[in-house]
Amino acid sequence: MPNIVVVGSQWGDEGKGKVVDILAPHVDAVVRYQGGNNAGHTVVVGREKFVLHSIPSGILHPGLRCVIGCGVVVDPADLIEEMEALVRRGIVLDGNLYISRNAHLIMPYHRALDLAMEAKLGDRRIGTTGKGVGPAYMDKAARLGIRMADLLNEPLFREKLEFNLTRKNRSLSEVYDAKTFTVEEILGPYLRYAGWLAPYITDTALLLNRWIANGQSVLFEGAQGTMLDVDHGTYPFITSSSTTAGGASTGTGVPPTKIHGVLGVSKVYTTRVGGGPFPTELRGKMAEALRARGNEYGATTGRPRRCGWFDAVVGRYAVRVNGLDTIALTKLDVLDEFETVKIAVGYRYRGELLTEVPSEERIWNEAEPVYEEMSGWQCSTAGLRDYAELPAKARQYVERLAEVVGCDFCLVSTGAVRDDTILMDGSPLVRWFPSLRGSIPPR
Ligand code: GDP
Ligand code: IMO
Ligand code: MG
Repeated sequence: MPNIVVVGSQWGDEGKGKVVDILAPHVDAVVRYQGGNNAGHTVVVGREKFVLHSIPSGILHPGLRCVIGCGVVVDPADLIEEMEALVRRGIVLDGNLYISRNAHLIMPYHRALDLAMEAKLGDRRIGTTGKGVGPAYMDKAARLGIRMADLLNEPLFREKLEFNLTRKNRSLSEVYDAKTFTVEEILGPYLRYAGWLAPYITDTALLLNRWIANGQSVLFEGAQGTMLDVDHGTYPFITSSSTTAGGASTGTGVPPTKIHGVLGVSKVYTTRVGGGPFPTELRGKMAEALRARGNEYGATTGRPRRCGWFDAVVGRYAVRVNGLDTIALTKLDVLDEFETVKIAVGYRYRGELLTEVPSEERIWNEAEPVYEEMSGWQCSTAGLRDYAELPAKARQYVERLAEVVGCDFCLVSTGAVRDDTILMDGSPLVRWFPSLRGSIPPR
């Protein structure tokens, strides 16, 4: 049974939650490998909407095992809140949720530092989600982090907390002029969280490898997107983890030799939340129209997302750095009303034509998109589930997208609801998961 990575091909919010939810019944486990509660993955089932932050989007499928891997940073208070909200809605977590012993904790001082650092950056601020994700990864790399397993060992947890807090308080008060913390105000709540989470904390790398050895299949759920990767993204306007497919191995302990394919998720246009380069960004009426039709507001922070045309330079790059086998295209219906639709096929920089993503911030900032313009289809594709039903112009648009990024698509999403999906015959996706065929009910 194949083990497949699902990865965002743009700047996040591509619709990964929906895609993972569709694939979940056809795998044995879903694992998050990086990021934290900065993610907001939306799944719409009928009239019910769920937004997952730290828990894999497979959790809505009864009996499916969902794993928070070692590469994830976990805010225990937020996680418990998310768990309780799911339980209130009838989702069973016991026996289905596993949290890595090696996952690092997001501490209250990480959140405080995230906000304080952003405030100091002024115009250069990243526009983080403010969840403390960056500072938690800083401590992980600095070998100062506190892990899930430490939370279960009270004397060790206290010792690590005291050691860290002395330094963090100095930084908060002296560098950032921000409020400090006492050991007791963190220790009490965190020990309560430990009691709550203990039954779920385990050696997830061992479990995942055992399941795989037994022929079970694992789906790796990426958070954020390729262009937010700490190495491959638009540095420094990135998140602090390895969002690209390579992160699936380091973030779970499943070796690359056990991963069989990579599925990219891409909107048929582009959005970005927070600061940083975005060559195809639209302003004014067009941006507002895309935002309104696509409901482009952050699933985690509620911030309006920046909106723009599809960027094939970014698309090609995502195909290369992730080794995409196939792409799930989402939100086709959002473009239904536009008279024309555009695809950036290159950038113009000081008279030169660039066809690869720049590595320098200065070039990103000045790069002007070079567009191909196509005629829009101006009729509704919302909810269509058969490729042949799409208007010819919509088919021409998605086929041109596939051509310019150099990767075929396996799925076209035409609405937020689980079943508003077109599956492409003969794609790697249906080869990986033959039981997907016929799994989407006709309208
Ligand atoms: P993720 O972070 O990649 O999981 O994406 P988000 O959940 O943050 O954002 C995607 C948004 O688009 C969510 O509100 C989804 O419900 C919605 N969505 C997903 N696919 C489609 C689609 O094909 N059409 C429309 N209109 N909405 C979609
Ligand atoms: P999903 O998984 C879109 C962005 C933030 C900010 C930058 C750094 O739902 O696609 P951070 O809080 O991670 O330090 O912020 O990354 N960002 C996202 N943008 N979707 C996300 O997640 C994001 N997670 C972080 O807006 O620009
Ligand atoms: Mg999101």
